[in-house]
Parts: sequence; structure tokens; C-alpha cells
Amino acid sequence: MSFFTPLCRSFSTSCVRNVVIKHVTIIGGGQMGAGIAQVAASTGHTVTLVDTSEDILKKSIKGIEGSLKRVVKKKFADKPEAGEEFIQKVLKNVAISSDAKAAVQSTDLVLEAIVENLKIKQDLFGALDKVAPEHTVFASNTSSLPITDIASSTARLDRFGGLHFFNPVPMMKLVEVIGTSSTSQETFDSLLNFSKALGKTPVSCKDTPGFIVNRLLVPYMMEAIRLHERGHGSKEDIDIAMKLGAGYPMGPFELLDYVGLDTAKFIMDGWSAMDPGNPLFAQSELLNKLVAEGKYGKKTGEGFYKYK
Ligand code: NAI
Repeated sequence: MSFFTPLCRSFSTSCVRNVVIKHVTIIGGGQMGAGIAQVAASTGHTVTLVDTSEDILKKSIKGIEGSLKRVVKKKFADKPEAGEEFIQKVLKNVAISSDAKAAVQSTDLVLEAIVENLKIKQDLFGALDKVAPEHTVFASNTSSLPITDIASSTARLDRFGGLHFFNPVPMMKLVEVIGTSSTSQETFDSLLNFSKALGKTPVSCKDTPGFIVNRLLVPYMMEAIRLHERGHGSKEDIDIAMKLGAGYPMGPFELLDYVGLDTAKFIMDGWSAMDPGNPLFAQSELLNKLVAEGKYGKKTGEGFYKYK
């Protein structure tokens, strides 16, 4: 299932190096986990997708099947039979399980995409660390929590990193690969190579808030809200300005509604707690009000804009 040479690098705390990731266990079958499972299975990896119940997992598989049908419609437009064959082959690569401990007994990578809560992620990794094989690399898809803090519940700090995918995973080419000060070079290289094997383009990141993309994108979206709060532009004009003037595919308010205002607020709250004096992380009254009213954006039918 995996290949590694027995030589140790002097700074490494384990004898494990350059794990070639063939089998991946993905914990969390929601938006992100299902998307990553689809891409991994489509690129010849075997996958075990784990969630808390069989019902959730059945929905995840249905979602993957629906997404694969859309892919096949384009890719195999004139060969529908080959398309169906491809779908079946990909689905065969995905097993499901509601028992995380059993699922990691034999795996090269444990990739976590569960709820964005530090304690829950730590508890999960702490338990899995005791049962996963020595060579297994652990990674989190967290958007906003420090990888170092998540990894601290395990004894495999050298084999722990971040793999930050973007939504929707089958469409978005980027993966941010995050190394902590304890991540070994071998682990980091394995994660980079795995990202490339998925057909993605990886970038290397330090374990700092927001890594690269969100560190630039979230303060930009917050500044758009503050600009509007100061009365310097309507949300419609700000969106038009950034689309037509900066060439962005979505304006900041449209993007906030797509990401989810609750998610944006959650990220900002975490960062302002870490660095309270930083004006880039200052609170927005308007954002807080919309979230308090349950207006989270597209997913609830209303955010900055209304959706039918
Ligand atoms: P989601 O809510 O769609 O899915 C989370 C899944 O994890 C649910 O199916 C839930 O049942 C399951 N789960 C929760 N606790 C579990 C546990 N202890 N064991 C097994 N399964 C468990 O969430 P989503 O959007 O997929 O996000 C997951 C992670 O990915 C979060 O850390 C988030 O910050 C990160 N992320 C999200 C992005 C997004 O645009 N939604 C983008 C990049 C990262």
C-alpha cells in the first residue's frame, strides 16, 4: 500500500521517510471531504471516507456520483459508455466507514475535514494517533486553526502537516501545503507529491493565520464591508468595481455570501483573539448583525443579498 525506505535522517524523530501516498483515509464526508475523496479516487488512489453515520456517508457518495456525472458529461461527451465505466471505476475506489479507528489501521494518509473546532479535531487526532501505523502521515484541511495546535494532541509531530483545499475541490486547482516547525522534510515532500498526484498545484505555506489565500482574501473582504459601513460605496457598486476594475470573477459581497458570513465571522473572531491590536482583524458591526440574524449568505437564502 505504501513505499518507504528504512533510512533515517538525523533530525527526524521517526524512521519514516518519503511515504508515497496510495491509500487515504478522509475523516469528514461533508462538502470538502467528499470533494477530496472524489478527486483522490479519480486519480487512482484508494479512499476510505469516514463520517459519524452511514446515512451521512450515503449522502456523500450520492454527492460524489452526481458530481462525477457532471464531469463525465463534459469529458466523455461523445463516449457515454466510457463515461459510465469511469464513474464505476472511481466509485469502486471509495469505501465508507463510520468507525474512524478501524479505518486508519492500514492507511498512508489521514486527512481530516470535520467541523472547524480545535478541541474536536484534537480529540480525533489524539485517538487516531494511538492506532494508525507508524508511517501514516496526518493532515488537516482546516481553514483557520493553527496546524501546530491541532498536531499537539499527537506524538507524530514530524508526520503532521496541513493540506488546505478550496471549494469546490474538483474545480479548484490550488492546494496549500502547510508545514509546522516540527513537520519533517519527508512528510512535507510526501504531501506536496500527493497534491501533484491529485492533479493540483501545491504552494508551500508556513503555519500562520490564513496561510496565503485567506490571509489576503479575508482582510480584503472585511475592508470591503468597512468601506460600505463608512458610506463610501454601495455593496452593488463595490462588487461591480472589483469585477470590472480588478478583473475578479466575484465582488467581495458576492464572495462573502458564497463563503458564508458565519464562516467569515468565525475566522475573524479567531484571528482578532490571537492578535487583538491588528486593525486588519477588527470587528464589523454589520457582519456581526447579519450573522446574529441568521443571514449567513447563499446557504440560508439571505446575506448581503437575497437568494431565492
Ligand atoms: P461540512 O460541515 O460540510 O462537513 C463536515 C463533516 O464532518 C460533516 O459531514 C460531519 O458529520 C463530519 N464530522 C464532524 N465531526 C466528525 C467526527 N468527529 N468524525 C467524523 N466526522 C465528523 O464542513 P466542510 O465545509 O466540509 O469543512 C470541513 C473542514 O474543511 C473545516 O475544517 C473547514 O474549515 C475546512 N475547509 C472548508 C472550506 C469550505 O469552503 N467549506 C474550504 C477549505 C477548508
